Amino acid sequence: MPIIYHEASKEFHLYNQQISYIIEIMENGQLGNLYYGKKVHDRVSFSYLHQDEARPLGALAGNAPCELCLQYTRQEYPSYGTGDYRYGACVIEQENGSRITDFKYATHNIYEGKHKIEPLPATYVENKKEATSIEITLYDAVMDTEAVLTYTIYEELSVITRHVRFIHKGESVIRLQTAMSACVDLPDKEYDMLHLSGAWARERYVKTRKLEQGLQSIYSMRGASSAEHNPFIALKRRNTTEDTGEVMGFSLVYSGSFLGQVEVCSHDTTRVTMGIHPDTFSWKLNQNESFQTPEMVMVYSDHGMNAMSQTFHELYRTRLARGYWRDRERPILLNNWEATYMDFSEYEILRIASKAKEVGVELFVLDDGWFGDRSDDDRGLGDWYVNLKKLPNGIAGLSRNVEELGMKFGIWIEPEMVNKNSDLYRAHPDWILSVPERYETPSRQQHVLDYSRKEVVDAIFGMLDQMISESKITYIKWDMNRYITECYSRTASPEEQGKVMHQYILGVYDLYTRLTNKYPEILFESCSSGGARFDPGMLYFAPQTWCSDDTDASERLKIQYGTSMVYPISAIGAHVSAVPNHQLERCTPLATRAHVAFFGAFGYELDLNKLTQEELDQVRQQIDYYKCYRKLIQQGIFYRIKSPFAGNDTAWLVAAKDQSEAIAAYYQRMNLVNAGYLRLKLTGLCEERLYEVTAFQHTEKYYGSELMYAGIPIDRDKLTAQGGDFASVLFHLKAVK
Ligand code: DGJ
Repeated sequence: MPIIYHEASKEFHLYNQQISYIIEIMENGQLGNLYYGKKVHDRVSFSYLHQDEARPLGALAGNAPCELCLQYTRQEYPSYGTGDYRYGACVIEQENGSRITDFKYATHNIYEGKHKIEPLPATYVENKKEATSIEITLYDAVMDTEAVLTYTIYEELSVITRHVRFIHKGESVIRLQTAMSACVDLPDKEYDMLHLSGAWARERYVKTRKLEQGLQSIYSMRGASSAEHNPFIALKRRNTTEDTGEVMGFSLVYSGSFLGQVEVCSHDTTRVTMGIHPDTFSWKLNQNESFQTPEMVMVYSDHGMNAMSQTFHELYRTRLARGYWRDRERPILLNNWEATYMDFSEYEILRIASKAKEVGVELFVLDDGWFGDRSDDDRGLGDWYVNLKKLPNGIAGLSRNVEELGMKFGIWIEPEMVNKNSDLYRAHPDWILSVPERYETPSRQQHVLDYSRKEVVDAIFGMLDQMISESKITYIKWDMNRYITECYSRTASPEEQGKVMHQYILGVYDLYTRLTNKYPEILFESCSSGGARFDPGMLYFAPQTWCSDDTDASERLKIQYGTSMVYPISAIGAHVSAVPNHQLERCTPLATRAHVAFFGAFGYELDLNKLTQEELDQVRQQIDYYKCYRKLIQQGIFYRIKSPFAGNDTAWLVAAKDQSEAIAAYYQRMNLVNAGYLRLKLTGLCEERLYEVTAFQHTEKYYGSELMYAGIPIDRDKLTAQGGDFASVLFHLKAVK
């Protein structure tokens, strides 16, 4: 069992071949943390790692002989107000107005495998031997409330997952004001905090800052995980690179408002907490009610950032994503959004689809504009039945016609939203989140349906179910194009309003669950104005996510590079679009557009009828290429080599697990005149193997060690011949005997 309880020292040691996590029951009965990091040999007691000192102004956590001072002590699930002045992991308001809590160890249970926490998404095991879990039950005697801390350690991955369940047994009502998923206290502050932040069309940019005394945080109070901050933090040592050094990643499996916070105290300890954002949350618990937090995933690497990301990729691709499509190669699709926007007819759609079929596209996706009275973004949302003026044969007829062309058919929906100009809103004006007598803030002229109400979710499910069951639909793009304002439910009592933000997301998960259960073979791609809800919670239901509305190849390098910190390549929806690019008016070579989109769930987003014959031939070759290598790309091991945030060029590589094959990509931004030499050092290969390397239509053989340590020179003239600015080259590597 990789979880040991040392009765004598009252310590828990969670370990596998790579990591150790050590918890102690402290003198006052609360839980302390002794260690998190690279695996250490087990011993009966690690108490020498406990550090607390009654500093000036410090308070003691018990009567003599207890000398424990919580002020700077590392803890597992701390609370503010009894001598620890840092932000705690939970705040619980009681009937007498007090917020003081004291959760002491009561009991624990160690078991093989991992239990589900549905309806919340979470990582899972397929076989009990893959992981070991421990539930440590803490008890507050005054409230008569339990907090059950669950930890799971995976056998083969340097992963620990955590979540907390509060079970209230007392007669008096309590209110959870803060209920973080986990707290991790570290003994020093010598870290840089890396996070993935940005905005619409520049999601998940890599940002790094040095930790300093005080708070540093990322968060969303938008009702979606957001484009502004992804629910992920990494703490890396100053000298950590992509391939060397220590880093810890923290990722929240949740799609709603969240807070990820790092606090450095006056004595240089570091506290990481992550969970539902407390400012948009207040959860009342009556007697015998319970509350389950989302899961936080912790990944440790002492081999740099790439190893951390590869662990997240493996876990999220194979033990978070689920279902029919999890391990299947994803279809190459063509989406009509940037080809037509909402202005299309059935004839036009079939013309675009036919051309797509001609070059080898496998799935045609009809985007926004097919339903209700939708001719503009101020109408139609909520009316999930076809607009017969545009599509006289309905979705059923169109999907059959597309299938007859020899392609699968997919469709766009935005089920959480309604326009005031819709039949749904006219029938149910009270179904939106809004406060009576107050202004209802529109965004993209639409409003958010109150998914905390079951009847609302039922109604939307009913409409979608009918449309899907009548048609031949194999793919659904589920969009969400605005954030939540006036988060208030017309049917919740005043004291339940603090639950609505979280219940909303539970409603979204409920609709996903119903649709994926009823239609298990439909491939779902989540989306939110591009990548504003690209999070692990969504990946549990939809194995791929539209990465960004910015389809410019050069900008996409940054977005996909940042996204790869946590999310597997199979999850990153990436398309070739037209030039000049619709977001930036920039022109990039067709080859580069494909070279960037190849590193994702690949597709096109343009009208191929508008291309020249030469371009169409190129597209056909791109599709053939991707079909040939997509398994390698989607399921291989991904390495970042050169960061687009650091200079003029970007490079990355994906290698087969057995290192027998790889594809590396090099991209430049501006073409440079009379510039220095270029050399690309690869990674992830076997030193001793000889590889046949094909690039620029030329094949040569090199050993893995040469490719990794000496590198391959790249001729700048050849990049100039590829178009100069924004040129790129792919290297295909195949090990030979
Ligand atoms: C935002 C998405 O990101 C786009 O791809 C497109 O589906 C539009 N919404 C449609 O309204």
